[in-house]
Formats: sequence, structure tokens, C-alpha cells
Amino acid sequence: MTTTTVMTNEVTHIGEFPQSKKMGAAEHTAAPKETCGVPFVDAPRMTARNVSVSYEAGAKSAIRNINLDIGEKQVLAMIGPSGCGKSTFLRCLNRMNDTVPGCEVKGEILLDGHNIYAKEQEIVELRSQVGMVFQRPNPFPKSIYDNVAYGPRIHGLVDNKDELDGVIEESLRRAGLWDEVASRLDQPATGLSGGQQQRLCIARSIAIAPEVILMDEPCSALDPIATGIIEDLIEELKENFSIVMVTHSMSQAKRVSDRTAYFHLGDLVELNTTENVFNNPEHKLTRDYISGRFG
Ligand SMILES: Nc1ncnc2c1ncn2[C@@H]1O[C@H](COP(=O)(O)OP(=O)(O)OP(=O)(O)O)[C@@H](O)[C@H]1O
Ligand SMILES: [Mg+2]
Repeated sequence: MTTTTVMTNEVTHIGEFPQSKKMGAAEHTAAPKETCGVPFVDAPRMTARNVSVSYEAGAKSAIRNINLDIGEKQVLAMIGPSGCGKSTFLRCLNRMNDTVPGCEVKGEILLDGHNIYAKEQEIVELRSQVGMVFQRPNPFPKSIYDNVAYGPRIHGLVDNKDELDGVIEESLRRAGLWDEVASRLDQPATGLSGGQQQRLCIARSIAIAPEVILMDEPCSALDPIATGIIEDLIEELKENFSIVMVTHSMSQAKRVSDRTAYFHLGDLVELNTTENVFNNPEHKLTRDYISGRFG
């Protein structure tokens, strides 16, 4: 099976949103032609311009003409009803869609000004700069130590065992897990609780010092206590990293994010400071969603 990934550097006009015509329900207005709010920032870490993604070799449009910036050292939350394209967009940011057969990505995505879809872009290098934490914790079937050591080893980031030990302790400390696992680093990661496993996955991701961390509903498999721990952690991590987080929890978006993007049926309807999106939304679709009338 092959993947067709088509990226062009051409920035086309912001198109119509044909999907909005299919919404049918009279109480919803159409998605705007341009994203409402303030989708861009000064000195962005990543930029997405006219990003459209389709599946099934173009037969199924998932997201259309997404334009936004990802700011440095801040959390961008992506919210919206199921199927609106949040995960699809997130996966574009470190080329995870490359491995989805029939998935086509168009538009331009830059990381620090470099086109991540350029021919010369090494995928392994990109993934070390843009890490990913998934919905369900997915530790490798290895020891706690080896899970965190994996990245620094394959990327050749350390010269000796002492250095590696240092990176592992530092990463586990930053992920708020060190005190719980220091005495059992050689034990299987799968023996940890769900919340601990998710923090281990975060430790694994930060061990290679990425610039951006993508999180796709990182707390949806966790209980409220484990969720609270991860949310506190995200607050600390943003001092060093840019974070893009998909969440179905509006209260979580309010608690942890600096900016919020509202997606609707493949369109980016609105993006603004989290305060503005929740207290002063510009678009009716955003208002309906955050007030629980849709989705
Ligand atoms: N591998 C795939 N093949 C075909 N269609 C897909 C694939 N992955 C996603 N889609 C479709 O793309 C659209 C967007 O899906 P996506 O998973 O990005 O939505 P989402 O906003 O993350 O939803 P959820 O909140 O349920 O996770 C949906 O219509 C979905 O069915
Ligand atoms: Mg999703």
C-alpha cells in the first residue's frame, strides 16, 4: 500500500466551504470563508497555510484550507465535534498522515520557517522536533528506563551511560514521574497505572528535546486525578515547549490553553485567545458549540 502525499508551496486563495452547505440544520449558520478571531501570532514556531487533507485518494475531504500559527511556549487547544478533523490536522504537523494509505495533504506547513514536507526533510528528524503523545498511553513493551532511553539512543543524543542516566532522570522529573519510579526503572513500563504510563510517554517524548509536542486527547483514558496531574504538567511543560492539544473537554481547554481553535466539519471556524473564544466568541457555530447546543 502506498501513501500519496502531495504538498505544494503554492498558497491559494481561501476557498469556499462547500461542506457548510451540507449542514442543513437551519439553526446553524455557515462556516466563515476566513477563520474568525486571530489565527496568527508574532514569531510563530509553526505555521499552517491552506492545509487541506483528504482520505481515500481524494474522495473524502477531511479538512479544508486551515490557516493558523502555533506560538512559542504556549498551549493551543483544538476543540470541535467528533469527526471535524482535529486529529487529521494534528497528524499533519509531524507527518503522521504519510503512513495512511490514500491520504493526501495539500498546503504548506513550516517549522521555524522550514517546510516540513520538503523532499529533503528527514522524517526521523522531524519527529524528534515535533513529538506526539497519543490518546491511549502506548509505552513500548520494555522497561521504564528503556522507554525513555529509546529516543536519545536512536538519535545519538548521548555519549555514555552516565549522560543517558542524566537525561532519563531529568525527563522523568519533568514529567512528574521520577519519585514514583526511581526505585524500579528496570521494571516493565506496562506495570504502571494508566496515568503513570501517560506521564512516561510524555517523558519519552521530552527526552529528545522536541520543540513542539502534539497531544491527541491525552487525558481521555485517565481518571480525574491522573488528568489533574497531566494538566499541571502541561502548564509546566509550556515553559519549554509549544504544545498543541486536542481535547473534548471544554473545561480542560479553558484550564490549560492559551489559545483555542474551534473546528467544525473540516473548517477552522474560529481561533483566538482561550478567554476570547469562551467569553466572547465571534461566530455562531463557536457560540453554539461552547454553550453545548451542538456536538
Ligand atoms: N484513515 C482514514 N480513512 C478515511 N477517513 C478518515 C481516516 N481518518 C479520519 N477519517 C475521516 O476524516 C474526518 C476527520 O476525522 P478525524 O479523526 O480527524 O476527526 P476528529 O475531529 O479527530 O474526531 P474525534 O473527535 O472523534 O477524534 C472524519 O470524517 C473521519 O471519518
Ligand atoms: Mg480525533
